[in-house]
Order: sequence, then structure tokens, then C-alpha cells
Amino acid sequence: MVSKLAVFCSKGEYGFNTKKYNRVYKESIENPGKYWGELAEKELFWFKKWDSVYEKKGFKCRWFEGGKTNITFNCLDRHLADGGDKIAYIWTNEQGEERKITYKELFEKVCKTSLLFKKLGVRKGDIVTVYMPQIIEQVISILACARIGAIHSVVYAGFSYQALSTRMTSADSRYLITADFTYRRGKKVDLLEVAREAAKESKTAVKKIVLVRESTTKLQENEISLEKETSSLNGFIDAQVMDAEDPLFILYTSGTTGKPKGIVHTVGGYSLYAHITTKYTFDVRKDDVYWCTADNGWITGHSYIIYGPLSNHMTSILYEGAPDYPTPETWWKIIEKYGATIFYTSPTAIRMLMSYGDKYPKGHNLTTLRLIGSVGEPLNSSAWLWYHKIIGQGKCSIVDTWWQTETGGHMITTLPGLDQKPGYAGLPYFGIVAKVVDRNGKEKKNGEKGNLIINGSWPSVLRDCWHDKKCFEGYYQKIKDCYFTGDIAVKDNDGYIRILGRSDDVIQVAGHGISSAEIESVVTSHKSVVEAAAIGVPDAIKGYKIIVYAVLVKSVQSSEDLEKEIIGYVGKVYGKHGRPERVEFVDKLPKTRSGKIMRRVLKAEEEKKNPGDISTLEN
Ligand code: WT7
Repeated sequence: MVSKLAVFCSKGEYGFNTKKYNRVYKESIENPGKYWGELAEKELFWFKKWDSVYEKKGFKCRWFEGGKTNITFNCLDRHLADGGDKIAYIWTNEQGEERKITYKELFEKVCKTSLLFKKLGVRKGDIVTVYMPQIIEQVISILACARIGAIHSVVYAGFSYQALSTRMTSADSRYLITADFTYRRGKKVDLLEVAREAAKESKTAVKKIVLVRESTTKLQENEISLEKETSSLNGFIDAQVMDAEDPLFILYTSGTTGKPKGIVHTVGGYSLYAHITTKYTFDVRKDDVYWCTADNGWITGHSYIIYGPLSNHMTSILYEGAPDYPTPETWWKIIEKYGATIFYTSPTAIRMLMSYGDKYPKGHNLTTLRLIGSVGEPLNSSAWLWYHKIIGQGKCSIVDTWWQTETGGHMITTLPGLDQKPGYAGLPYFGIVAKVVDRNGKEKKNGEKGNLIINGSWPSVLRDCWHDKKCFEGYYQKIKDCYFTGDIAVKDNDGYIRILGRSDDVIQVAGHGISSAEIESVVTSHKSVVEAAAIGVPDAIKGYKIIVYAVLVKSVQSSEDLEKEIIGYVGKVYGKHGRPERVEFVDKLPKTRSGKIMRRVLKAEEEKKNPGDISTLEN
């Protein structure tokens, strides 16, 4: 369906083109120890060098064993000598308020907060839950944990108190850091109330709630104010010397079962992988103004708002708010105002902003942009092309980055400087062996769909699932000793990989495996459709039939004729066997708070069944 598109593409700073990529890739695969060892030495600071780059036991791998470091040393201390005055974050919000913080100021605040945590009794290895909005204090709290060796468990501030307490109980977390409130689409949202409820509900005795951004709230017995308590604390605190394999954080992610999985990442390997993928994917340059619109409650924020950008001494925009509030041009205004050079967002946001029409982005000067990225779900070709033409003004490279909470960093993308293909994430990262295989692990031919697996290890692979050995082993059992991603993909003759969606979202129609994402991509390429979800509903004759839920462009009315037209369109573009039985027009699709369509909820609705756990449902 998609042909190779030759687009102008700025040559990357690191000079990757197909030839150079192929050479470095080959070297990294043939000798991973050398490749990663040299990078770790060149790119990061270590208190003590490792004894071995990696140690493999079955499918388990340990990286930089014997090495000692601290990620905050790499993110802060090492930049101070000649870069302390550089802005680390420009924070802004829906009201257009603004705050800037330099590396030196950030460092000082992290030290103070670390001292406070120590004073409260937080020790190395303790788990601290962070339930905060997208503000500078959230970044400070996360870094303060890492500085003293506490393990942070960040819970997205949109989660309910039940979801928060489940995660605190599961992690046995006794400390909770929260903020009084946040704003969501102009409305004040009380976070402290949620935190208090969660603490009450939690099966662990919560020792302390630390509060930032206070308004008039009266603190309760076990609550303290970060601002007041740190004002009297002075001084510097050395970064805790950490073993490379000490846990850095846990982050809960949803699985197919509905029970959240506490993904564990460790200090050494994660430091390197977050650093190097940021540098290469975004082709980092000294004067960049970088903006990743993700929330720090998810892995994208961890790796590509906090650790990767700081480690690379970048200036980042930190935005607290929605993409289209107060108006659909809010984000374009921010890019213009701060002269952003790199913009990294999700397909959902791209499609949503696309649905408002071109006039909003066109009304702003976006010429500072040189690189634009996407993450979280397949970026369908029509959204890719719009993103490229309207936001990237036909001149920006697009980095569609495929990865997962479990992988810690980018695994597949098209590095700037390489040929771009709309709809394709691209090529595996250095050191990553990505294969498309059948159920037995046999490699599929190019052009054939299959399971995406990763062979071998990489520095930031998940080390464990918190208190859940079975869950961890599950990743390596479907195909022996290979990391099973759970995604369906296809490789073309150039080795470019296109992600088709989760394997659990493949619909078997009359024996044909049809990926929901693929149908959705077709439906959204129809001029009247902005967003769509395709689900499989049991059918007595064909096994499954496809039902599509579609959100229309604002100016278009739903009608029976339009439904017929879309069904016919899918038949034409995809093939008759992929035609949906019905198209339901809806105002919104049910989504997780991280923006993933919850097809399971639609399926339950169709089948009149209980949808199961919907704690992650946004609307
Ligand atoms: C799943 C992982 C990785 C950060 C955000 C999500 C899907 C992610 C892409 C992409 C197609 C993508 C996959 C993956 N996904 N990036 N560029 N193209 N699909 O993290 O919540 O752990 O979800 O997101 O299905 O398995 P996550």
C-alpha cells in the first residue's frame, strides 16, 4: 500500500546514511561487547569501570557488572563545570505561564530534595511513589530518588485513587510525593485528595506524603511540605554510588491480563541506552530546543523528557496541559514562542490536531523545527504525510520510534539521514536484532506478517517484573529465549519494519489474519475520518467480522451513505475480506490515559459482555 517516498531529509549531525548505518549496525551485532563497552566509556561517567560489559545466563542478562555510577551524576554534576547556566527546562502550561530552570539550579534543588528524603528516612532501595503533574518539581523529585538510590515508581497523575493504591501496595511503597492540584482543560484537579484516599486504601503503611505546589490546604499528620522543609536545608549531597545492576525505577504498564506489571530498569544499562538513543534518534545539537509532549508518568517521559535529554545536556520544554486547550493552536504557539527545533509526540495527538484543519499550524512560524518524532502506536501513512507536510513543512525528518516500557528506549526507528518511508518505523537500533517470525520462531519472508521478537539482549532490557517472576519469564517463553514483543510486524526488502499492532488485536476473518491497526490505517486514510478503531466480533460463519468505530472530521455529518462509502473504500483499498460489517460513528474512542485505543471496551460493548478492568480508561 505504501511506496517508498523520497523526501528531503536533513543530514544528521552524526552523519548516518544507509551505508554508515549498515556498517555500524554490523559491527554492533558482531561484537556487542566492544560496541557497548566503547560507548559506555566514551559517553558516560563511571565512578568505577565495569568488569564485564555483559554476562548472559539463559535469557537473562546483566550489563556492566561491577561498574559503579549514578544517573544523576551523568544528568547534572558533569554538566556544571562549563554548562551550569544552560536552561534545562522551560516549563509552561495551558495558561501560558512560564518558568525556566538552569542545570545549576536544577542540581541545587535536587540536592536539597535528596537531603529532605534522607531526613525523612528514605534509604537506598526504598520505593518512593511519585504522583505528580508535569511540573519541574516532579522532575526534581524523580532525580532526588535516583540521587540517593531510592527506586522511583511514577504513577501517571490521571490515575484514580484505586489504581494508585494498587500500585503502591504492589510495590510496598511507603513514601508518596504529590502535588496539591493540576489543571486539566482549565479545570482544577485535586491530586492531594486522590493521594490521601490512595494512602488510606493502600495495604502498606504509608509513612509520609510530601506535598509540592501547595495552595491553601492544611497539611495532615503524616504530610509535609517540600517547599517549607527544604528552605532550611542547605548544601550539596554526593550522588550515591550505585552498582550498575541496582534498580533505578519501576514503572507499571498494562498487560493483556489487566493486572499492571511493574517493569524494573537498572542504573547502568538504562543510563547508557537512554543517553545514546536520545543522541542519535534526535540528532542532538548544542542549540536545540527540544519538546517531547509525553507525560512523565509514562516511559517516554522517563527516557525522553528526563534522563536522555538531561544526560545530553539539552534544553527541553516541559508542558502541563492538553494539546488543544484553550485552542487547537496551543501547541503551535509554544513551538513558535520557544523556537523548538525537535518535536516528539504521539499519533493520537497528530491525528487530533490534523482533524482541526491546516489553518492552525499554518498560522504559526514552525520553521525552527528540523526533526519531528512519533511514538506509542502506528503512525498511519496519511497522518505521516500530513505531519511531514504541514508540521515538518516538507523538510523535517520524521522519527517514528517503536519501543516499549519494557525496552527502556527506542528499538526501531529511521535515523535522520536515512531514507524515510511513511507508515514504517524503520530499522533496528544498533545492537538490536529484530525479527519477524511465526509461532515457532521461524523467520517469515519479507512482506509476510508475523510476531516481532528481539534476539539477544541490550543494555536497557527489563530486568524483572516487580514481585512477579512468572510475568517476567512470560516474555521469553512464547519463543524460546527470545524477547517476545507481542506486536505484529512486517519487514520489507530493505529491512524496514512496519508495526501493525498488537498480536492480540489481530482479527481472524474467514481465516485471514487482519490487523486492527491495518484496517484503521485504511479507514483513517479516508478524507472524512480522523480516527478509527477496528474490532473483531464473533461471527457464526466467518469466525470473526470487523466492526469499525470512526470519529469524523468536524465538518462532516454522519450518514448511512457515508457508512456505505467507507465500507466500500476499505474493500477497495485493503481488499474485500477486510471490509467492515458496520461502521459506527462516534464522537470519541475509549482510550487509556496514555492514549491507546481500548478495543477491549468496544468489543465488550458489541458482545454485551463485562469489559473487565477499566481502571486505565480515560473517558
Ligand atoms: C506498545 C508499547 C514506547 C513508549 C510508549 C508506549 C506500541 C509504541 C510504537 C510505534 C507502532 C508502537 C506497540 C508497543 N508502540 N511505539 N512507533 N509504532 N506501535 O509504551 O505503553 O509500553 O506500549 O506501544 O504496540 O508494543 P507502552
